[in-house]
Amino acid sequence: MTGASRDALGFVRVTEVGPRDGLQNETRIVSTAAKVAFIDLLSAAHFPEIEVSSFVSPKWVPQLGDASDVFARIQRRPGTIYSALVPNERGMDSALAARVDKVAIFAAASEGFSAANTGGTIQEVLARFVRVVASAHAARLPVRAYVSCVVRCPYDGPVAPTAVRHVVEQLLALGADEIDLGETLGVAEPADIERLYAEVARVLRPERTTLHLHNTNGRALDNARAALALGVRSFDSSAGGIGGCPYAPGARGNVDTAALLAMLASAGYETGVDGGAVERAISSITQVLRADAS
Ligand code: HMG
Ligand code: MG
Repeated sequence: MTGASRDALGFVRVTEVGPRDGLQNETRIVSTAAKVAFIDLLSAAHFPEIEVSSFVSPKWVPQLGDASDVFARIQRRPGTIYSALVPNERGMDSALAARVDKVAIFAAASEGFSAANTGGTIQEVLARFVRVVASAHAARLPVRAYVSCVVRCPYDGPVAPTAVRHVVEQLLALGADEIDLGETLGVAEPADIERLYAEVARVLRPERTTLHLHNTNGRALDNARAALALGVRSFDSSAGGIGGCPYAPGARGNVDTAALLAMLASAGYETGVDGGAVERAISSITQVLRADAS
């Protein structure tokens, strides 16, 4: 699911998560029209995948309560996968009605974040996903599975790589098609990424993972370089570096898409993403966020 067949050409898959991970952390509600305009501009950049929104409880994330409307109004570009987060069966029903192309489930490697973000233990949350994955596959939709807090948890502190591997193993057993490792706090150093992959690689080749790097400490690009050296060929990023998680206090946004694309290009990797179109999308959403803040 991560473009492995194109590795020989030096292809790296970049998934734009700004509309979901970026906007979920904005306390002022962004209009549906502005979200749709942002996503349409991102579509013009030819991302292989855009994470559009979340079918989570609007009580937990009010910003993304318009996910169905956003999906109904975006212009879908052939060749781009339009995905969404789904926390439970109710969210799955909404996601199917919205005709998502791919479902993203999300678990955590730490109990503190699991409780704060999804209101359940790690095992309870994994159990919720059994039916979600079955419904997705019955509808022939692939499933991305996030594991949050792969290095550190805002509530429990450092997270052991073995704890991450245990959750990865269970998500694979559930039938997840793609594993996305979330460095939720953005505090990792390259050595943390190396320790993480030394353990995860016991059950899944790095080439088959996606890495989701928040950038609180400004080391996300260094961490991406370390992951590339280990064989990782799929990364998430956020236009303008916007975002964070409302349930991970202090965490800043994902690695900025333009910075990631520039780093990958200078290292000789192809992404197929049009940097000029990305700049137009960044300009559109930053204007909206600045206007809202003033
Ligand atoms: P809960 O409160 O334990 O569950 O939430 P509940 O079943 O009691 O539901 C509470 C209310 O929400 C009820 O409404 C439900 O009907 C409603 P009420 O009866 O009170 O009127 N509800 C829903 N409404 C719409 N769609 C739904 C849905 N489900 C319940 N799907 C739940 C459990 C999982 C729903 C909640 O904890 C939740 O929505 N959590 C999501 C939090 C979230 O989105 N966090 C950010 C995304 S994860 C992230 O950012 C990390 C990531 O980027 C990777 C990384 O960086 O590490 C992916
Ligand atoms: Mg995130």
